[in-house]
Amino acid sequence: MMKAATVERIKSGMRYEFDRSAPPDGFPALPPIPGGRYTDPAFLALEQRHLWQASWLYACHIDEIPEPGHFLLFRRTGSPLLIVHGKDGVVRAFYNTCRHRGAPLVKDTTGRVEGLVCQYHGWTYGLDGRLMNLRDRRDFPGFDPQCYPLTGVSCERLGNWVFVNEDPNARPLAETLGEIPGLWAEIQPDQTRFVHKKSYHVKCNVKVLLDAFLEVYHLKSIHQQTVDRFLDHRGTTITLWPHGHSLMVTPNRRPDWEDPGTLGMIKLATASEITAKHNPSYHLYPNLVTPIADSGIPFILFWPCGPREMEIEVVWCAPDWGGGPLHPLWEKRIANFERILYEDTQFAEFIQESVESAGYRGLNLNYQERRIYHWHEELDRRIGVERVPAHLRVQPVLAPYVVDQIGP
Ligand code: FES
Ligand SMILES: [Fe+2]
Repeated sequence: MMKAATVERIKSGMRYEFDRSAPPDGFPALPPIPGGRYTDPAFLALEQRHLWQASWLYACHIDEIPEPGHFLLFRRTGSPLLIVHGKDGVVRAFYNTCRHRGAPLVKDTTGRVEGLVCQYHGWTYGLDGRLMNLRDRRDFPGFDPQCYPLTGVSCERLGNWVFVNEDPNARPLAETLGEIPGLWAEIQPDQTRFVHKKSYHVKCNVKVLLDAFLEVYHLKSIHQQTVDRFLDHRGTTITLWPHGHSLMVTPNRRPDWEDPGTLGMIKLATASEITAKHNPSYHLYPNLVTPIADSGIPFILFWPCGPREMEIEVVWCAPDWGGGPLHPLWEKRIANFERILYEDTQFAEFIQESVESAGYRGLNLNYQERRIYHWHEELDRRIGVERVPAHLRVQPVLAPYVVDQIGP
């Protein structure tokens, strides 16, 4: 739950931001971020290996695989990952890779099975990944099936949300998220229900679009008729956490105004004043942005599909509405959000064209855009600074501004 002291800290942070006439004393001018970090094939290969294939990533909501035997194929990291709801209720993840010669156990994106049977030569695995049976065992002398389970992948839940991590030495999810799970008690992660999801293909490097969701400097230009009408970016207060995570709270112009688009929807009684009346947007490193509200939680996810292609995925969750049909306003709410999304994506292809041209001289970020810089500093730490070619490194300057928790 968000403590009263934390609420006060955020509110005084918003007041401070409104009143200031310059960045805080001593805040560094952010050095340019090299454009090659968005285009250089060697750098993107490092990013693929040390970031996308070694980070905790949101994979699905438990409502998408609610019963034992339900599975979901997750291919966002370039590896074929199979997420399975086990007979014991535990959700596990494996490579969708038979230990015989690598054929897939499932080919559909989702479905329900009793066991996992390889369609190539019939090796059979339990939902817990154990190899149960193989055809013509006499032709594998001395073979011990116990030594050939499906290769597991770290899989953990944060309430009803399922995350995976291909790093075999991954630290537990909750540990890497710091104070976020505690702050999220107010949105009751084990009670949220899945509402809707949709992906949009965009022709740019994944970071080009992600950057747009880490700042509100652009509200006055591209969201003039939408977000800017109810949020005031001048009061935005930011928390930078360890491991690249961050929070940006933007004040509502009129905190007591209730969005007519959510009138009559179930609202969380446990929501803090910050979540009920303002706009807290969490960023869970590397690719999950979520502007949580008391009436709904959109997970905005950014997935690479190659050097200059990406997908943005929006997953809507909501407080438990107790079964039955969704509130009729949801359709309009999702459509309104989509409109904002199109405002955000409109320049992505053009920016991509620019970053690939000789005319691009790097990103020049201001104080308000420091979450983007924080993102890149963390990327170098994850890759290992010594592996990053010197001309593509970002100079670490934000360490003094990273805190373990918001409140005292
Ligand atoms: S590859 Fe799976 S049984 Fe042969
Ligand atoms: Fe935006």
